Amino acid sequence: MNIRTATRADLAAVYGLECDAFGEHGYPDFFLRQAWDLWPGSLLVAEEKSELLGYVLAGRGEATGEGWILSLAVAPAARGQGLGRQLLQAAVNALESQGCRKIKLTVLPDNPALQLYRRLGFAEAGREEDYFGPGEPRLVMVKS
Ligand SMILES: CC(C)(COP(=O)(O)OP(=O)(O)OC[C@H]1O[C@@H](n2cnc3c(N)ncnc32)[C@H](O)[C@@H]1OP(=O)(O)O)[C@@H](O)C(=O)NCCC(=O)NCCS
Repeated sequence: MNIRTATRADLAAVYGLECDAFGEHGYPDFFLRQAWDLWPGSLLVAEEKSELLGYVLAGRGEATGEGWILSLAVAPAARGQGLGRQLLQAAVNALESQGCRKIKLTVLPDNPALQLYRRLGFAEAGREEDYFGPGEPRLVMVKS
């Protein structure tokens, strides 16, 4: 398994991973294209035998030294094998190498991925009601 930066040719498969993982809450394909324009070094894919099994999108913010993890998804059949952890760590490394000292992300309060984030040093830093729609809050987690 290889983790590398995404090329434009990967974007359709990245969108497929996004749809499988997040359904109607996923990013549109044209947002992913714009994100790749903005942060080509922080859209990473996990590839095995030419198949994309997961991806992570990160981006540096305008606030000095701050970055965000914007999406993390692993193909359903490839989950539970450490891929999510490796992708997240690679995104953290990419942001830190770009000077980010504080890294934030959004997660649903009942998402099992919370454990993954805690293990990699993220801590809950706030809750915003109705973020994903009425009655659907988000947690913001921060690693610094
Ligand atoms: C979250 C996600 C990326 C994790 O990917 P993964 O490759 O399965 O994760 P890993 O195998 O690296 O697991 C790392 C840790 O995550 C936690 N974890 C991840 N998914 C879990 C689940 N469904 N149930 C329980 N724990 C889970 C575990 O603590 C695990 O630690 P362990 O290996 O010590 O048990 C994947 O489940 C996914 O794509 N989910 C749908 C999209 C999503 O919710 N993304 C996060 C949005 S904030």
